[in-house]
This record gives sequence, structure tokens and C-alpha cells, in this order.
Amino acid sequence: MAVRQVLRMGHPTLLQVAQPVTEFNTAGLDALIEDMFDTMADYEGVGLAAPQIGESLRLVIFGFEHNERYPDVEPVPITVLINPEIEYIRSEQQAGWEGCLSVPGMRGLVPRHTHIRYRGFDQAGNAIDRSVKDFHARVVQHEVDHLDGILYPQRIEDMSQFGFIEELELRERGE
Ligand code: NI
Repeated sequence: MAVRQVLRMGHPTLLQVAQPVTEFNTAGLDALIEDMFDTMADYEGVGLAAPQIGESLRLVIFGFEHNERYPDVEPVPITVLINPEIEYIRSEQQAGWEGCLSVPGMRGLVPRHTHIRYRGFDQAGNAIDRSVKDFHARVVQHEVDHLDGILYPQRIEDMSQFGFIEELELRERGE
């Protein structure tokens, strides 16, 4: 049980395509997932991908009941998702603000699919199959991108909509 250091943008591990998890229900996997939850809580994130703590595996966690950073969104169930696959249910995309523990202090406006189906496994190897929308869909797309070496700034279409949180808040208030 430990809070691990989150790698920041620029670290080569964040650019790698992560490897599938091949064994479920192992002590090593459970310990890694526990570290991920400890780390996500400590950094007050809504999601974390294993590569962000230096483990290049296709494993993400996400979910929250209430989050200070995103006070207006519906809760997302606390989930361990391994070897995920995403299918886009609709072609529709919507721009929304995202942050990332690997890009601290910043926010960017990122287009994502609004409706997705995702499949994968939990740590015991049980199948997960959900069709979700909006913020839940956004979180999953963001986390699964990490497994393919993609950070959200690479998805921003208008770089004027990327910056430090404090500056963006001042701009929003017209100061
Ligand atoms: Ni992230």
C-alpha cells in the first residue's frame, strides 16, 4: 500500500504502447491496483492509468462520488478496467475541459465521443461491458488513451484553449 510518484509529460514511459495484462487474480496485480487507488486519492484525481506510475500495462482505474475539480458532473462508478476496448456508439463528439495528473496545473479543451461502449476485465478476470455517455465516456477515453501513449494535449484542436488553470480561470472571469 503506497502512494507512488506520478510521471509527468515528457517521461518516455507515457509515450509507450502498454502491454496487455496476462494474469488475473494475482497478488502482484492486486498490490499494483491498491497503489494506484492510493495514488489517485492522494493526487485527488478521477482516474489513473498504470503507465502514469511507471507500469506499462493495459490497466486503468477511475471513478468518484464527488470531485472538487468537476463539481457539476454525475458520479462515475469506481472501476478497475483491464485490457479495455472502446467502441464508439455515435459519431458525435463534444469538446470538454480535461486535466491530467501527468500534466499538473493545466487544463485543455478536448473533443471526445459522447457515447461509447467499453469492454474489459476487472482484477479477478470478470468481464465488464458498459455503454456510457458524457463525462463517464470522457474519463474512459482519456484513461485508455494513456495505454496507447497519448496524453490529452495531443487531442486539443485549438491550442488557445490550453493553459494553466489559474490563468484560464482569470480569463473566464474577464480579469
Ligand atoms: Ni491523464
